[in-house]
Amino acid sequence: MPRPIEALIHAEALTHNLARARAAVPDARVWAVVKANAYGHGIARAFEALRAADGFALLDLAEAQQLRDLGWRGPILLLEGVFEPRDLELCSRLNLWHTVHCEAQIDWLAMHKTHQPHRVFLKMNSGMNRLGLRPAAFRAAWTRLNALPQVDEISLMSHFSDADGDRGIAAAMQVFGDATRDLPGERSLCNSAATLRHGDDAAVRADWVRAGIMLYGSAPDFPAHDIAHWNLRPTMTLRARLIGTQELQAGDTVGYGSRFTAEAPMRIGVVACGYADGYPRHAPSGTPVLVDGVRTRLVGRVSMDMVTVDLGALPHAVRGSEVTLWGRASAGAMLPIDEVAHAAGTVGYELMCALAARVPVRLDGGS
Ligand SMILES: Cc1ncc(COP(=O)(O)O)c(C=O)c1O
Repeated sequence: MPRPIEALIHAEALTHNLARARAAVPDARVWAVVKANAYGHGIARAFEALRAADGFALLDLAEAQQLRDLGWRGPILLLEGVFEPRDLELCSRLNLWHTVHCEAQIDWLAMHKTHQPHRVFLKMNSGMNRLGLRPAAFRAAWTRLNALPQVDEISLMSHFSDADGDRGIAAAMQVFGDATRDLPGERSLCNSAATLRHGDDAAVRADWVRAGIMLYGSAPDFPAHDIAHWNLRPTMTLRARLIGTQELQAGDTVGYGSRFTAEAPMRIGVVACGYADGYPRHAPSGTPVLVDGVRTRLVGRVSMDMVTVDLGALPHAVRGSEVTLWGRASAGAMLPIDEVAHAAGTVGYELMCALAARVPVRLDGGS
């Protein structure tokens, strides 16, 4: 019998969440961001469910090739552009649109021999100071690109550092607006947080939004808002089973480092899931978990292959009982990945991307 742990990917929830992105910005087109193997969900698994997107955005050329192999003929955008000149050949062959965020990428394009001019997204650094040309250099870069026979159409993009928080996007919008005022071309600015929180502003939603985390059932601005607030559905469930139970006496401790001490007699369950499955090792005692669909808590340290949970409220739980680490219990109860991530001091993004290769993954047709 295989070890009792699996992950489920909920296809209908992906489709629902994509529809939510569309509804938030009805007159804009939506890139489904599927970098990092669709945020850990698997591009091949997520593809059909996200097929209604206007395009797919990602980083890795191998993932772009995978999408073409899956039969996707529509737009694909490389969010970081090409990493070396010869990548441009693949862009020509697979008809990939690519971001241009630095002068070197323009130099490479100028030397590239192609019969098929490229669609590029010129990226501005509007304050995040990660990728992108500074506002003062943006217009000159646009003029250079515009003069290249290798370039067909130039769109303009930027990425917000604070769309999910109180600092907001006003400063970046001002910088971007000032530097692009009379430049032609489509615009793309919004990630999930900006789509949901600021998408009602036409200048912000612009022509294309780049929706990532919201497609995968995580609220980009948790804990300010949760997925119920944004009407998003969980797309990944991590489920395991109890493989043992222990009766503790007052004063007994649990796990490595004896980090949890029973204050009174209590029963705990041992779950077939640990940090080698992608469960966060830093999740403290108290982190929520569902046993047979009933909410309880982690007790003691997360170890490589096991976690331990409080069965105080679950007298009927036995070896074999279902444990939902995040996502949906069979009986329907739900534990948002954001709650687990928050308890562990991280974000839903990290947990879904860290799902370990040893966990079998099943595509669940229903949500
Ligand atoms: C350039 C760019 N656009 C869009 C996204 C999608 O962001 P999110 O997953 O927060 O929607 C990312 C992700 O980091 C990104 O780097």
